[in-house]
Amino acid sequence: MKLCVALDLPSAEENLALMESLKSKDYLWVKVGLRSFIRDGAAFLEQIKAINPLFRIFLDLKLYDIPNTMGDSVDEIAKLGVDMITIHASSGREAMCEVVERLKKTPNPPLIMAVTALTSFDEKGFFEIYHTGLETQVLEFARLAKECKLNGVVCSCAESKTIKEQLGAEFLTLTPAIRPFGESSGDQKRVATLEDAKEAQSDFIVVGRPIYRAQNPKVVVEEILREI
Ligand code: C5P
Repeated sequence: MKLCVALDLPSAEENLALMESLKSKDYLWVKVGLRSFIRDGAAFLEQIKAINPLFRIFLDLKLYDIPNTMGDSVDEIAKLGVDMITIHASSGREAMCEVVERLKKTPNPPLIMAVTALTSFDEKGFFEIYHTGLETQVLEFARLAKECKLNGVVCSCAESKTIKEQLGAEFLTLTPAIRPFGESSGDQKRVATLEDAKEAQSDFIVVGRPIYRAQNPKVVVEEILREI
């Protein structure tokens, strides 16, 4: 299981200071999401790599559009040299397959993960949009993503184990909404601890606020790395 640190702080300077404090952690995954990327752009990715070229970059833009636009977008993403990206499973088969086809042409393609149900959804909120049960639909999204030859899905720990059982251990699961030692859940509804994530056979855990809002983020990262 690998830790992804979410860089969701209010400025590039604060995110870079956090990464500086974690400079010695070769191969640590860092997640650049919408907030950072909209504000700081591709230059920010270069600044992260300058701190430690061995950091692994997860560009979490959760693409959702028509197949051609998704394809054109990943052609651009391919030039950024990132290691993992996200697209929405609900963008559909044609869009997911288009993304996989386009990235086949890249020398070191990033892992492609499909977002199933956001972890901020509970059953009621999910039903309002999709008119179906959350768990069943997450599994359907995962099946479709596997058929389109994506590397895995983003889901909660509550669904990860079933996905592994049904689709095989090599189909990756990435689980956000981790509250490593039972911290406050904030807007997240389907939260889990490190123990839950291990039990759920999650391949990647994403941790944001419990790290960057801690008194000493480095200590929290080290505790998490020790546990996993
Ligand atoms: O602060 P917290 O640990 O809740 O941050 C979780 C991170 O994971 C955020 O950057 C959020 O955008 C992201 N994420 C999520 N749920 C998903 C996909 C990504 O919370 N399904």
